[in-house]
Amino acid sequence: MKTTDVKAYTNGKNNGIQVFVCKDYDALSKKAAAIVSGEINKKAKFVLGLATGTSPIGLYTELAELNAEGKVDFAGVTTYNLDEYYPIDAENDQSYRYFMNKYLFNKVNIDMDNTHLLWGKAPDAEAECKAYDEAIVAAGNVDLQVLGIGCNGHIGFNEPGDKFIMGTHKVELTENTIEANSRLFNSADEVPRFALSMGIGAIMNAKSIVLVANGKNKAEAIRNALEGEITPWCQASILRLHKNVVFVIDEDAASALTEYKAI
Ligand code: GLP
Repeated sequence: MKTTDVKAYTNGKNNGIQVFVCKDYDALSKKAAAIVSGEINKKAKFVLGLATGTSPIGLYTELAELNAEGKVDFAGVTTYNLDEYYPIDAENDQSYRYFMNKYLFNKVNIDMDNTHLLWGKAPDAEAECKAYDEAIVAAGNVDLQVLGIGCNGHIGFNEPGDKFIMGTHKVELTENTIEANSRLFNSADEVPRFALSMGIGAIMNAKSIVLVANGKNKAEAIRNALEGEITPWCQASILRLHKNVVFVIDEDAASALTEYKAI
């Protein structure tokens, strides 16, 4: 990665947000992997919060390469994923458990027992959500949370609405999200209508957050998150109240920003 591939942007205010705009998806994935691996290497026991979706695939591929090269060690890493469809079997190739095994867990030296996702077939969704929050707190909260962002500004499956929901909860997916995610299924009819998602509380309790986004279809959500009002109608906007957030985005995703400029 050349240094010119990544530019730091600022809005001139001294806040807890850092924004890196990368030349392309490859540069974005390498930059995000450098940040995440650097943090993992600082602690013997590390709690890593993970996201699914297409955006972090490059990051996970880079982390797997760094792991193979001996530059980052997952032996002391425990993971908690943001969300899972509901209901869905872990073996279903559309489940987020399947995704994580495929893109990260099967490729690095992590102990599978230390990888946690919400159970998409839990008979009692409410109890599952409560236990998940308790487990995260017992683990000492997330050290670094990886996030993507939905076109409507959602993080995890925290959909736009009139409030921020703090705890892990069952969500009815919006038509917008079902439509966006249908590209990964045979048809929109196959996309589950519900999900279990970490709430805003566990995300905001993470000691640091790295959000990755690429593509023109994310430009509006990124602008609303960074420059719009802080409102539950754009759930990612709450990240501006966190002390340690890094946005690693490509030029397309940055293309609607007006207040943020290259330093
Ligand atoms: C999904 C996930 C989110 C993800 C978002 C964007 O619905 N629940 O965690 O950030 O959509 O996905 P993608 O990266 O594929 O655009």
